[in-house]
Amino acid sequence: MKGLTLENVNKVFGSGLNQVQALKEVNFEAKEGELTLILGPSGSGKSTLLTILGGLQQPTNGTVLVNGKRLDSMQGKAADAFRLNNIGFVLQSYNLVPYLTVEDQFKLVDKVKKDGNLDEKTFKRYIDRLGIEQLLHKFPGELSGGQSQRVAIARALYADPDFILADEPTAALDSNRVKEVAQLFKDIAEKSGKAVVVVTHDLRLKEQADKIYELVDGQISLEK
Ligand SMILES: Nc1ncnc2c1ncn2[C@@H]1O[C@H](COP(=O)(O)OP(=O)(O)O)[C@@H](O)[C@H]1O
Ligand SMILES: [Mg+2]
Repeated sequence: MKGLTLENVNKVFGSGLNQVQALKEVNFEAKEGELTLILGPSGSGKSTLLTILGGLQQPTNGTVLVNGKRLDSMQGKAADAFRLNNIGFVLQSYNLVPYLTVEDQFKLVDKVKKDGNLDEKTFKRYIDRLGIEQLLHKFPGELSGGQSQRVAIARALYADPDFILADEPTAALDSNRVKEVAQLFKDIAEKSGKAVVVVTHDLRLKEQADKIYELVDGQISLEK
């Protein structure tokens, strides 16, 4: 199976009275070619799930599979190289480099990952759809939350990863932008055969989703 899979994943933080079980026996699948949504309120475990799915942190127990292969068996440099080449993250904090213009954020990707980034034509099309062509010479400090969010999305897409993992990518966007971003994610999944996973409490994304999971207090269930 091409995609990302979680099997019986548990994640426990802390110990004793401070112990929190953020994920409980989570079984989850994100297939290539599909936009998969995980809906849940604040504190339900969305960010924990997404970062485990992308190998940024390890589950307490359970299995993470990438195209049927165990991700948790990869370590150190192999895991870093795998993430760099295959997974695009859109994190809640945007993670833009403060002293680089928007344009240079993309050039930085070219430096870190030399091959396989988007060709100019496709990139221009995404920039256009995300409405950030006017922002290319600005610094992150000059951008609004919504603009930063769209730049962060473009940067994740620029590396052309097989898996796109986005954490609340529309929280700062107005409804028209949400529609455009949701449709872009769906098109990228469908036409480029990528697995796109979005965790959010934004119900406005439901329409475009191929599959919808619900996460409540660390327990996941399939809604659609
Ligand atoms: N590094 C951490 N240390 C301790 N508790 C954490 C940590 N990360 C998340 N949690 C706890 O796990 C639960 C789920 O958090 P999170 O995955 O961030 O939820 P969401 O993204 O849905 O808001 C919360 O109770 C949160 O406080
Ligand atoms: Mg979160």
